Amino acid sequence: MSGALQARIAALRAELKEHNYRYYVLDAPEIPDAEYDRKLRELQKLEAESDEPVPADSPTQLVGAPLGERFSTRTHGMPLLSLANAFDADEVRDFDKRVHKLLDETPFSYIAEPKIDGLAINLRYEQGFLTVAATRGDGRTGEDVTDNVRTISGIPWRLSGDDIPQLLEVRGEVYMAKTAFAALNRAQLDAGEKIFANPRNAAAGSLRQLDAKVTASRSLGFFAYGIGEGGKGFAETQFDLLMRLQGMNFAVQTVAVLPDVDALIAHYCSILERRSSMDYDIDGVVYKVNELALHDELGAVARSPRWAIAHKFPAEEVQTRLLDVDFQVGRTGALTPVARLQAVAVGGVMVSNATLHNMDEIRRKDVRIGDVVVVRRAGDVIPEVACVLTDKRGNDAREIELPDVCPVCGSAVVQIENEAVARCSGGLFCSAQLKEAIRHFVSRRAMDVDGLGNKLVEQLLDVQLISHVDGIYRLQAEQLVALPRMGEKSAANVIAAIETSKKTTLARFIYALGIREVGEATAASLARYFASLEALIQADTDVLQDVPDVGPVVAGYVQTFFAQTHNREVLQRLLDAGIHWPESNMPEQKRPLVGKTYVLTGTLPVMDRSEAKERLAALGAKVASSVSAKTTAVIAGEKAGSKRAKAEALGVPVLSEQDLLKLLEN
Ligand code: IVH
Repeated sequence: MSGALQARIAALRAELKEHNYRYYVLDAPEIPDAEYDRKLRELQKLEAESDEPVPADSPTQLVGAPLGERFSTRTHGMPLLSLANAFDADEVRDFDKRVHKLLDETPFSYIAEPKIDGLAINLRYEQGFLTVAATRGDGRTGEDVTDNVRTISGIPWRLSGDDIPQLLEVRGEVYMAKTAFAALNRAQLDAGEKIFANPRNAAAGSLRQLDAKVTASRSLGFFAYGIGEGGKGFAETQFDLLMRLQGMNFAVQTVAVLPDVDALIAHYCSILERRSSMDYDIDGVVYKVNELALHDELGAVARSPRWAIAHKFPAEEVQTRLLDVDFQVGRTGALTPVARLQAVAVGGVMVSNATLHNMDEIRRKDVRIGDVVVVRRAGDVIPEVACVLTDKRGNDAREIELPDVCPVCGSAVVQIENEAVARCSGGLFCSAQLKEAIRHFVSRRAMDVDGLGNKLVEQLLDVQLISHVDGIYRLQAEQLVALPRMGEKSAANVIAAIETSKKTTLARFIYALGIREVGEATAASLARYFASLEALIQADTDVLQDVPDVGPVVAGYVQTFFAQTHNREVLQRLLDAGIHWPESNMPEQKRPLVGKTYVLTGTLPVMDRSEAKERLAALGAKVASSVSAKTTAVIAGEKAGSKRAKAEALGVPVLSEQDLLKLLEN
């Protein structure tokens, strides 16, 4: 067997694996399909010539099976939340002030834990046995990686100790130690296999293996940091929770319980100093309110809890050369200048593109083509050009000019006065805008058409199987099968997902339409307020401005959107295709408590607090956790303490549970 043949096979496998990852996981392919196919065919041919067995994870064995389809999905018992970030001490102090305000005078402490740079995993234990392990996924559902997780020595198959809950979800981070990472890359290099960019990628790649034996060979570690379903009454503080998890045989990190924000910031500095001597990567420090009962009281905004924050380490910065600038066209036609850079490693990742945001930024930073620039990357954030080293500028540096016409469709580029952003005026005539509009429409938080990824949307547009969003509801499985790299099973899955997406909510549907400035929160407000699409379409800008958080600009965009005949036609075709949602019987316009804010405190003997909260919210009221002069009334049950006193001091009415029941009869 020729060494050259084996080396070429290894190189092709590594290369194709990388392209698969970019295509299926990052949704950011780097090479055209034809090029991919050529490499794949070459690998197939060489594998046939070689007398070595073909390993199960060779790209030739995985064709047409997107990663997302390789593992089945699992819905977590309770969603996995993410953390809000603080990038400096001031932001940490703001967080601390918010917590104090919400908790009024309730005493509490903080706990600080290093923020492990790995992958979040949810472990489900039933009767003390590990039954399911799933990746974070979108927070609601993740990939089932149970077999692979069972090979990680730090994750017990069975919980030890007495008093094991019937059901318990344990959350934590899978990581690869720095020493294991270095050893793995040495071995990969020797075997002519792909080198991993950083321990996090290596851990992710090792966990998402089809063959659990590969995972087993990769020495992954695990730290537990939280619990999900089944955790009621598990512990009183985060510290006790960690100790109990340790008692069950989980590894937990060294943590610190601290009295106040000054102590948190001092602790951050000591961790930053210790960072390089630790054997696993961390990218910040997580601060949590230690008392678990207060977590319920503080709640969450969007998907981040108000009781925790990640204090991130500063972004890594490196120098490189700006080779050129391209302009990308987004969903609303916005032209974003993208720097093409001499490739450079930043924070363990190779970077060759960075955003320049807009022309104002370019002028402010005085960026020119050919300049030596400083590139910055923090965590998962898109890399950006931070500044220019003007003293290193050569004579041949060129100014960056905004194109007069759209680089994609050739329509005129317009820039509205006082707006930093320049836009292509082509609207949906511009294939870039159309593509982005469809990508947005099918995205997870909009119509959630699983399996209709960026690449497929692009293909469908290229071969003109669709020319607008409603076109996806007329697609047939046979049409999909005819596309390159699409198997029958995948095609059937996409068609099934399209069918499933027809059942949605009004809020998701409004969000999916991609009206300018109408994000998820505004779409939800509009849906709550009008409760029907017809009422929303009929609303004029005055009525629209009655909706919480809708000002004149957004009202204008909404009205203009629905006033356009072609938009109305697309809407009709979508509804004709069978898109539907449960009708709400009471629009917010008619809800009697809209605009009122209540605070619940003490124990309510008849109704529990969560029921009271739900019923108040159903009538349009807001339920807040702290009392201010703007509070409509405080509803005080038994043993009401400081909140009642504060209400009395501020002259805010105090109601009894009886008063609340009367209010709810409305
Ligand atoms: S607590 C609701 N603690 O950071 C809070 N997360 O950026 C749930 N992470 O998804 C997370 N170390 O994967 C928590 N000590 C720690 C952590 C930690 C790392 C990760 C976790 C989470 C992500 C959020």
